[in-house]
Amino acid sequence: MENYYNSLLVNNKRWVAQKLEEDPDFFNKLAKGQKPPVLWIGCSDSRVPANEIIGAPPGEVFVHRNIANMVVHSDMNLLSVLDYAVNVLEVKHIIVCGHYGCGGVQTAMTNVHVGLIDNWIRHIKDVYRMNYDELHVIQDAKARVNRFVEINVFEQVCNLAKTSIVQGAWERRSDLHLHGWVYDVADGLIKDLEVTLNDNSSLQNVYKLDI
Ligand code: CO
Repeated sequence: MENYYNSLLVNNKRWVAQKLEEDPDFFNKLAKGQKPPVLWIGCSDSRVPANEIIGAPPGEVFVHRNIANMVVHSDMNLLSVLDYAVNVLEVKHIIVCGHYGCGGVQTAMTNVHVGLIDNWIRHIKDVYRMNYDELHVIQDAKARVNRFVEINVFEQVCNLAKTSIVQGAWERRSDLHLHGWVYDVADGLIKDLEVTLNDNSSLQNVYKLDI
């Protein structure tokens, strides 16, 4: 374990040397500031590292990750990241990226009691309840979980659209796009769910804000 821990710091030094060899100004440029075009909202799962799977270098992706890539409208962490990304950094794309085989999503579909995390999983259970009938037409259990992963991503894209932050930005500019993706840990490929939202027109009326 100690060797493993030390290797992380050794790897860091090697990475710095490699970056400087490729571009002596690499860190000087990054030190000047950031203007990332993308906000990534993904799962905390260790197999889904945001930058790496889309080939994005440091400086390109502002990242928020939590269990099962949830957009919870009372989560101050999420709201703060979203506000900063949209209103200060002025990102053009917000990508909610779920992944097949998501442990949080799987657990939400069972009666398993994990502990404190049950209270976070509750948010996913609410989405499960709303889509229960549609999901249980699917006979194969794995296919049902995977479909729920996709449905949950779409629900979180809608949750973004319902925020005053995103609706406020849409009122001021037309270049903010919300996307839903699912990453497959089994082959590394991303599926674009093609549920992109560019304005609040598809929201149920009750969620539209007069901004
Ligand atoms: Co997950």
